[in-house]
Amino acid sequence: MARYELVLRNGTLATAGEVVKADVGVREGRIVALGEDLVPGEVEIDAAGKVVTPGGVDSHCHLDQPMSDGSVMADDFRSGTVSAAFGGTTTVIPFACQMKGQSLRAVVEDYHRRANGKAVIDYAFHLILSDPTDQVLGQELPALIKDGYTSFKVYMTYDDMKLDDREVLDVLGVARREGAMTMVHAENTDCIAWLTEKLEAAGNTAPRYHAVSRPSPVEREATHRAATLAEIADSPVLIVHVSGAEAIDQIRAAQARGVRVYAETCPQYLFLTADDLDLEGFEGAKCICSPPPRDAANQKAVWTALKTGVFHVFSSDHAPFRYADPRGKQIRGTDASFAWVPNGIPGLETRMPLLFSEGVGKGRIDLRTFVRLTAANPAWMYGLYPTKGAIAVGSDADMVIWDPHRKVTLTNAMLHHNVDYTPYEGMELTGWPETTISRGVVVCDGGELKAEIGRGEFLRCATPEPATLTSTA
Ligand code: URP
Ligand code: ZN
Ligand code: ZN
Repeated sequence: MARYELVLRNGTLATAGEVVKADVGVREGRIVALGEDLVPGEVEIDAAGKVVTPGGVDSHCHLDQPMSDGSVMADDFRSGTVSAAFGGTTTVIPFACQMKGQSLRAVVEDYHRRANGKAVIDYAFHLILSDPTDQVLGQELPALIKDGYTSFKVYMTYDDMKLDDREVLDVLGVARREGAMTMVHAENTDCIAWLTEKLEAAGNTAPRYHAVSRPSPVEREATHRAATLAEIADSPVLIVHVSGAEAIDQIRAAQARGVRVYAETCPQYLFLTADDLDLEGFEGAKCICSPPPRDAANQKAVWTALKTGVFHVFSSDHAPFRYADPRGKQIRGTDASFAWVPNGIPGLETRMPLLFSEGVGKGRIDLRTFVRLTAANPAWMYGLYPTKGAIAVGSDADMVIWDPHRKVTLTNAMLHHNVDYTPYEGMELTGWPETTISRGVVVCDGGELKAEIGRGEFLRCATPEPATLTSTA
């Protein structure tokens, strides 16, 4: 029998189902053996005293996404995937974003050109649907789903993106028939526009008013509506970037009714509050994202919902805009209204370490829950499980070796993204991803990049739910 190419020895392996001590044998990029005292491999890694988890799947991040306001994302597939890998992520799923009037197929082709040869880890694409014409829903989308693009995001706000309820139902109808997953950005667009108009008329334009323009009821109402549309169309939805208690209540209630509502939250809703938008001068713009961070009580509600299974996915929603940059947060200058600031904050590299330290390390969630939220569930949700998100015989050998005791003070200087700040500057974490392995190749080790740019492969996703053959929608 051929030797193992790699043996990872003596580690504490954590999966979605169990935590066990075992060796991992890898051949041709896949896990081929789990057990005790495996025969020697060509490469041996001793993981004694370390925790080994499946490589993270960051299923909500934005890389090199064309923007309609002239702003430019700071991270492309090169810097974005390198940064992700240093943070323990081995698969990213960013968005091929359709602008109104564009062919979906052309958008996907363009996004492949942007990704080709640049990724150091594997990647799949979600779609963003902003123009669900008959041609898009009738021809392009079903064909793309069959080609491995099985999830798409719809927006209930942003003038250039938003769909009305009828359009969301139309999208859900296709998703139901084809077995695809619809992700929903749930905020009530008219409420935001009305509140923004009032705030601006009163001269209240500083970054902190972004949070005032999008209070919790804006998200609560849209979350309720999205769940209702899912119920009516009989098609699952995943509510992305959920910020706090009011939306969580709607999700839990829908789940209790048996509606297939899945939910995602992100680090910004655990570690930031609206006070972070209220900094000196324009600095609060760094933390402008939608929905906005709330308060300590909402952070607590998010922790509870992570622990109790209301949330399925923990993503970064990495949306990389540089702060001191006329193509970034300051696109309209530092006196501009909050309404013109590009939305989003960076977080690809900090997503897993933050949850490991503050969640597992502080006893808020256990290791298996950590694995489910950061790797197994997102892989399942988007049709990549168990190739990704698992440490099992037959899975890709995507693994992270954590030193659970290492203390790290987060600084932007130590990160590998191309953004000029991290909202988590100065946070003290315990536990760090020391080694990231993708398909059996050590990508990062001890703070050094070890693998070639361009080795990352595009992944075609399966449909997460079996296609409904009897659809009438
Ligand atoms: O503010 C955010 N979340 N920006 C990224 C785009 C999105 O809506 O996910
Ligand atoms: Zn969104
Ligand atoms: Zn996003």
